[in-house]
Amino acid sequence: MCEWINVALPKGRLGEKVYKMFAAAGFECPEVLDDTRKLIFENEPKKLRYFWVKPSDVAIYVERGAADVGVAGKDILLEYQPEIFELLDLNIGKCRMAVAAKKGFRDNPERTLRVATKFPRIAGEYYSKQGRDIDIIKLNGSIELAPILGLSDVIVDIVETGTTLLENNLEPTETVVPISARLIANRASFQFKYNEIQTLVNGMKQQLEESK
Ligand code: PRP
Repeated sequence: MCEWINVALPKGRLGEKVYKMFAAAGFECPEVLDDTRKLIFENEPKKLRYFWVKPSDVAIYVERGAADVGVAGKDILLEYQPEIFELLDLNIGKCRMAVAAKKGFRDNPERTLRVATKFPRIAGEYYSKQGRDIDIIKLNGSIELAPILGLSDVIVDIVETGTTLLENNLEPTETVVPISARLIANRASFQFKYNEIQTLVNGMKQQLEESK
């Protein structure tokens, strides 16, 4: 690399998978996967700097240019609509945004539907396209509790294996949108560090091809 490239990785299992893809593509960096509390790692000769951030914060670092590139879930991109470039679908972290309700729930279209979610924009747009009147209840986690306790009629949430729904006697009723991890770039970095970022993207594309 001619210019330093800052990469924001989402902390956790998905981020580790992503880093392994970067490393296999030739963008390795010592200690990134070590069991340490350190957050920033550098490969000086390759001018690469990785840092671990909370998955939902990656897009903020990239949008504001603290990171040139990063990896974020499509759910976060749809919900917060950061001004970034989406470069590549990494085909990992695959899940879906779905509507779920208590088993046997029947919607009565005459009444406002109470929807609990961490994703008010995604849920709002989904129902507004259907012309359905809803009341959004924004929660920050354990969304599955809401219909069980009568706080909401349905939830709009991420479903991966479906285990959380099953174990709480809920069932998915509709898919809102498929989700996966995306490689994203800061808009100015993409212009000024075009060659470096393109090298990264091509390396990742090759990894994707080889894993097919
Ligand atoms: C997400 C989501 C579901 C769960 C779905 O929660 O909100 O609760 O994963 O996964 P499953 O279909 O494989 O069971 P997360 O772990 O992000 O925690 P949260 O409670 O903060 O939403």
